[in-house]
Amino acid sequence: MLEPRLLSTILLLWILLVWRSDPLLPAAESAIGVNWGTVSFHKLRPSTVVDLLKDNRIPKVKLFEAEADVLVALRGTGIQVMVGIPNEMLSMLGSSPSAADLWVRQNVSAYIGKNGADIRYIAVGNEPFLTSYNGQFQNFVMPAILNLQQSLVKANLAGYVKLVVPCNADAYESSLPSQGAFRPELTQIMTQLVQFLNSNGSPFVVNIYPFLSLYDNGDFPQDYAFFEGTTHPVTDGPNVYTNAFDGNYDTLLAALSKLGYGQMPIVIGEIGWPSDGAIGANITAARVFNQGLITHILGNKGTPLRPNVPPMDVYIFSLLDEGAKSTLPGNFERHWGIFSFDGQAKYPLNLGLGNKVLKNAKNVQYLPSRWCVANPSSDLTNVANHMRLACSVADCTTLNYGGSCNEIGEKGNISYAFNSYYQLQMQDSRSCNFDGLGMVTSRDPSVGDCRFLVGVTDKGSDSSGSQIAHRWVFHGPLTSEFVRSRTN
Ligand SMILES: *[C@@H]1O[C@H](CO)[C@@H](O)[C@H](O)[C@H]1NC(C)=O
Ligand SMILES: *[C@@H]1O[C@H](CO)[C@@H](O)[C@H](O)[C@H]1NC(C)=O
Ligand SMILES: *[C@@H]1O[C@H](CO)[C@@H](O)[C@H](O)[C@H]1NC(C)=O
Repeated sequence: MLEPRLLSTILLLWILLVWRSDPLLPAAESAIGVNWGTVSFHKLRPSTVVDLLKDNRIPKVKLFEAEADVLVALRGTGIQVMVGIPNEMLSMLGSSPSAADLWVRQNVSAYIGKNGADIRYIAVGNEPFLTSYNGQFQNFVMPAILNLQQSLVKANLAGYVKLVVPCNADAYESSLPSQGAFRPELTQIMTQLVQFLNSNGSPFVVNIYPFLSLYDNGDFPQDYAFFEGTTHPVTDGPNVYTNAFDGNYDTLLAALSKLGYGQMPIVIGEIGWPSDGAIGANITAARVFNQGLITHILGNKGTPLRPNVPPMDVYIFSLLDEGAKSTLPGNFERHWGIFSFDGQAKYPLNLGLGNKVLKNAKNVQYLPSRWCVANPSSDLTNVANHMRLACSVADCTTLNYGGSCNEIGEKGNISYAFNSYYQLQMQDSRSCNFDGLGMVTSRDPSVGDCRFLVGVTDKGSDSSGSQIAHRWVFHGPLTSEFVRSRTN
């Protein structure tokens, strides 16, 4: 039986579906969106981030999890949402229809509706076919999709919320775009997936990273990673490729054609360039790549295999730096944001959405302007253990070779490590002790491009929970104030 509320929801959905025109987006053009990840030691309040999205007129956002505080903040904004399901949940969702029902109820139905969060896509897993996962998730993907689709049908949302699977570009391979094919061990599952996507009107979502091609391969021609012409074009029969993005995209199109689905709409789920933490990762390169990408996409040129048709949507990776991410891929992993962790634009970027440059986050609540540095009057010969400890929990990635703080000298290194730890501990004065080697200063120790951060606080937070609070351990005494500010 339909409740009145459900009826009005359905009516609203119908209205939204029929009147889908979006004033920001002429129908045939791509939309530029962003990935909003939250693996940060210094999380901005979700409402601050949502205001940042609105100020920059960003119409679409992709989330890696259905975090309650984030979805609540997105309510009533009109921003379209792709919400992700972590790979670790796929086996449960694939084996239990009721778990899938519950997931949809708790993480989609609860937010959608009048003045709700405009959830349009569910990303089932995140790059679940990645080679380095050795197949551990891939067999759960289709069962999870089939259960979730049934759950959406039951919730009367199947026509509005589409299931997709963001794939890494390592799902397909070829030396020439026209020869593209999915990895042989994925042929069967890709056939099933693409059949499902096609029958459901869902796009194929792919993450493409020219930066990683350059980073992993010393022979990769640097200018082929960017969009400004190249001294190393790739010639493929009649087609000439001048950038890695187009080549990669057409490799996917060829792989889809082999399965009989060469016309499938494509969404770029992640693409971007890091600004720190490796030799090829710097502000200039990140700006040139991202601006080149946006100009290329919005120029509606398409690619040789799909001329004049750009991808449906492109989600830049990423909105904000995430200083608590694993550095396993490399130190650059914490520096993908077009904004730093505190919502400050790193460089001028025209997203093609109306503003000529990025606008900074407003009303960011910083901790006081205080830093922890090495005490100049101390003997610092025995500091190595303190530094190691500080950097094992806090973020010191910019100190490494290729990083923006690599040349600040030995004492600078120590101060940087001490400060990162001190800010991570919300400026608890005891966290700047380091056996008397540290001291608090109100003079900003930043030098040149090397920024010594001041943490942000979630005081007055509108958040209902902080994932990261459970992720790290405090190596010193706790104050009740400290506990409260991390767990509210
Ligand atoms: C909803 O999503 C969150 C975040 O991924 C997850 O922790 C939670 O278990 C999900 N709810 C259900 C019922 O699966
Ligand atoms: C920035 O990165 C680009 C390529 O990724 C590289 O060519 C350039 O030399 C780098 N600039 C600096 C100052 O390191
Ligand atoms: C500072 O630390 C980085 C990273 O460990 C190292 O590469 C660099 O050589 C250090 N600088 C000095 C002067 O010790």
